[in-house]
Parts: sequence; structure tokens; C-alpha cells
Amino acid sequence: MEFVDWSDDGPAVVLLDQRALPHETVWLTLRTIDEVVDAIRSLAVRGAPSLGIVGAYGAALACALGTPEAAELVAIARPTAVPLSLGVRRVLTRADDGPAAALEEARAVATEAAVVNARATERAADLVQDLCDGPVRALTVCNTGDLACGPGGSALGAILRLHDRGALTEVLACETRPLLQGARLTVWELARAGAPHRLCVDSAGPAAIASGLVDAVLVGADRIAANGDTANKIGTYSLACAAARSGVPFLVVAPEETIDPGTATGADIVVEERGAEEVRGTTTLADTPVYNPAFDVTPFDLITAVVTEKQVWR
Ligand code: MRU
Repeated sequence: MEFVDWSDDGPAVVLLDQRALPHETVWLTLRTIDEVVDAIRSLAVRGAPSLGIVGAYGAALACALGTPEAAELVAIARPTAVPLSLGVRRVLTRADDGPAAALEEARAVATEAAVVNARATERAADLVQDLCDGPVRALTVCNTGDLACGPGGSALGAILRLHDRGALTEVLACETRPLLQGARLTVWELARAGAPHRLCVDSAGPAAIASGLVDAVLVGADRIAANGDTANKIGTYSLACAAARSGVPFLVVAPEETIDPGTATGADIVVEERGAEEVRGTTTLADTPVYNPAFDVTPFDLITAVVTEKQVWR
């Protein structure tokens, strides 16, 4: 399903507001670059591949408004995910050909995402079945379905392919503090797909792996360094440590473009730090100092394979 799209009634970018899920279905119509940037920063739209699509449509909007240079504000709205700036820059290569050409390129970004996702998820589901005997108990973190990636998803998409094949026993979905993309979004997508699942707190994930409740861990990626070190939602590293210790396959499923040849190792990845209020909520003292990294980096030697539309990189 298209959760990020273009509206000719405008021009405008339309998207499902992920902040309102799972209880409300709210569609946003973004008519200015400031609105696009705010939607990205506030996570109305998130997930690396979906950021690529909204980046592309955001650049098309900048062109339609006669301010293509403003697209740069979209490209830098969040620092860690590779596809955001790639989507913007690809559309800007057509800026001189006029708004219609820019929009054509943005639509191509969106269309290609579905093809990429289909290839990567089929390949990842095949690999899981090669590595595991019988139906699979999968664990995942954050949200890597259609909401995060466009049609087909990445890691969650591969899990749902297993479900389609009758090869999925259950999914353990980590809730993903502090913004609960797992509890709000992954559970919503699993319920829509009719896939068996249970929600767990993030700290139960490594324990579930150690207890023998998990056959495979599948996660997405926001940026993969040239050596395979992978930035993904905070909490991923501890899952990878637990999986390595227990001999459980740990797969990263992502579009090939997430592999950034310009980033040599994980040490070069810029990890976004987000606002204190996301962690404080109403739970703690109002002025408590907070450490809130949105991502962590998993070293390549903890990863069984990175699966893209083009390769299984072991
Ligand atoms: O902060 P978010 O929600 O944009 O985080 C990105 C993610 O969705 C995850 O890190 C995901 O596993 C990789 S992108 C599909």
C-alpha cells in the first residue's frame, strides 16, 4: 500500500501520519517544504526507504514551487538514513528539465522501491528457510514494513513472506523505546496481515533469544558502512550480541542503496540524537538530563548476512 504519495491537487505530498497510529488514521497533505521537513523530523513519516520516497516527492514539491534549492533542507532533515538524501538528489538531477520531469523522477523512486522490496524480501525469506529447520519464530525491532519502506517492506516484509509461505510460527516484536515504532506500527502491520505475534519490551528481546524462543532475528538498516557495520534502531546491537552468543541467525534486510561506500566503518556513521522529551515523557523528573540516540551500530562480525535486492552479503 502507498503510505507516501503525490497529490496533483496542490501540488502536495500526501502521507499517512505514523504518529497517529495505531489508534487513528490521519492523512497529511504537505504543501510547503517546511511542512515536509517538519513531517520528517517529527516522524510523521520515518523508516529509511520511506524517507527516500518522501525525499524524492519533497524535492519534486520544491521544483513545483519554483524553489529547487529548498530541497536541500529536506535532504538534511535527519542525518542517519542514507536514502533520504539519495532520493532528494536523484530528483534534483531533473530539476533543470522542469517540475513535470522532477515529478516523473520522484514517481520512479517510489515505483522502484516496491520492486526492490519484493526482491530483497523474497531472498531474505529464502535464506531464513535455508538457515532454520521448519516454521520460524522470528524476532524484530522497530518497524520495517510497508510504512517504513514502501510496498513490501524490508525485514518485516521478509517475515510476512514467511507467513505467506506457511513458514512462520510467531513474531516477537520489540516495542522500540522511546517512540514505540514496534508497539504502534509493527504490531499494526502484523495484525493487518493476520500474522501471529506477541509484543515484548525491548529488554526482553535478548532474554528471549537466550531462552531459545527465537529461530532468527531480522532487522532493517538505516546506513550500512562499506565494511558491513550497520546502523539501525537503538536496541539492535544488544539483539545482535544475544543472537551471536546463542548461535541464532541475525539478518539485516535493506535496499542495496543503504550500503554507503562513502562510510568506511560504523565509527564514521552519524547517529542522530533526539530530544530529551521523547524519553522523559511524563515518567521522570521534568528536568532530568537524557541520552537519546535514535540508532546504534552493530559490527559486521555479529551479522550473519546483509540481504538486499542484489545480494546476500555474508
Ligand atoms: O527513527 P526511525 O523510525 O526512522 O528509525 C528507522 C527505522 O525504522 C529502523 O531503524 C529500521 O529498522 C530501519 S529503516 C526500515
